[in-house]
Amino acid sequence: MEREVLLDVKDLDVTFGERRKKYEAVKKVNFKIYKGETFGLVGESGSGKTTIGRAIMRIVPSSGGEILYKGQKINGKITAELDHKVIREIQMIFQDPQASLNERAKVDYIISEGLMNLEKGLDESERKKRVDQALLDVGLLPEFSSRFPHEFSGGQRQRIGIARSLIMNPEFIIADEPISALDVSVRAQVLNLLADMQKKRQITYLFIAHDLSVMRFITDRIAVICKGEIVEMGETEELITHPIHPYTRALLSAIPMPDPKHEKEKKLLVYEPSVHDYSQDEASWQEIRKEHFVLANQKEAEAYKQLYEK
Ligand SMILES: Nc1ncnc2c1ncn2[C@@H]1O[C@H](COP(=O)(O)OP(=O)(O)OP(=O)(O)O)[C@@H](O)[C@H]1O
Ligand SMILES: [Mg+2]
Repeated sequence: MEREVLLDVKDLDVTFGERRKKYEAVKKVNFKIYKGETFGLVGESGSGKTTIGRAIMRIVPSSGGEILYKGQKINGKITAELDHKVIREIQMIFQDPQASLNERAKVDYIISEGLMNLEKGLDESERKKRVDQALLDVGLLPEFSSRFPHEFSGGQRQRIGIARSLIMNPEFIIADEPISALDVSVRAQVLNLLADMQKKRQITYLFIAHDLSVMRFITDRIAVICKGEIVEMGETEELITHPIHPYTRALLSAIPMPDPKHEKEKKLLVYEPSVHDYSQDEASWQEIRKEHFVLANQKEAEAYKQLYEK
């Protein structure tokens, strides 16, 4: 069965700064996200994950490449009609629930702000009804709507952020490290909530994280990003059980194991980008195992192929 491509990112570049101080935060990034799936983007701090999310949201301009949503180009100049559609259908949940809510606004306003911008003549009682429903959807009480963000815990604030997205009835949500700022005790709740919403409303997710342990349980496929470049991509189980690129292997070696003896004996792998010499033999996207791709030159590709042969 042909799967429907919801988002298609092609050769995306994002550059910050000007002239001499130019900084390429995202370099020739390519991936597709299929409707209904959870696609994970993983990489260490500063690798460009949030920047990719913000480029899709059109908060930062792209300097090259294309972002297609349902086959329509949404980066660069777009029509007012498409703009309207994209604002409603694509939502982002932010990394830091402490910083992302307007402290001076009541929850009621925070949750319905986007909706009011989009539906100008929205009836007041209808608006209230939808805010109450959005609060209930994320497991909060409707009476919280008259309170201010500082009255809530981190987990509750993140739920408010999620309610603000859900009220738009989105098709696609970019969840940027939605649980990393939360206490361990509430992380599972927020993850379950996101999974629940996916089941009920067929939402597609781009899920961003900096470690692979969370990813394993919620994503269908994963792309690994290193210094603005995607270096490996594959189905979640396949990628985690058969990591190929040294950077992915280093990321995986940093995940704690439940066996303390093994843990003490384990060596942490360190990734050295300098070992890749692409000056003679250029790197390209290579399928090493089925549907499992790595950025490598010919020589590396051959070595990688031998890795799991036997
Ligand atoms: N508006 C900006 N202006 C200049 N540089 C920026 C801007 N936004 C991000 N950068 C730089 O781009 C790089 C990628 O940043 P980004 O926030 O995308 O990383 P990240 O992978 O989300 O990291 P983290 O896991 O810490 O959130 C960093 O070096 C960052 O300093
Ligand atoms: Mg980030």
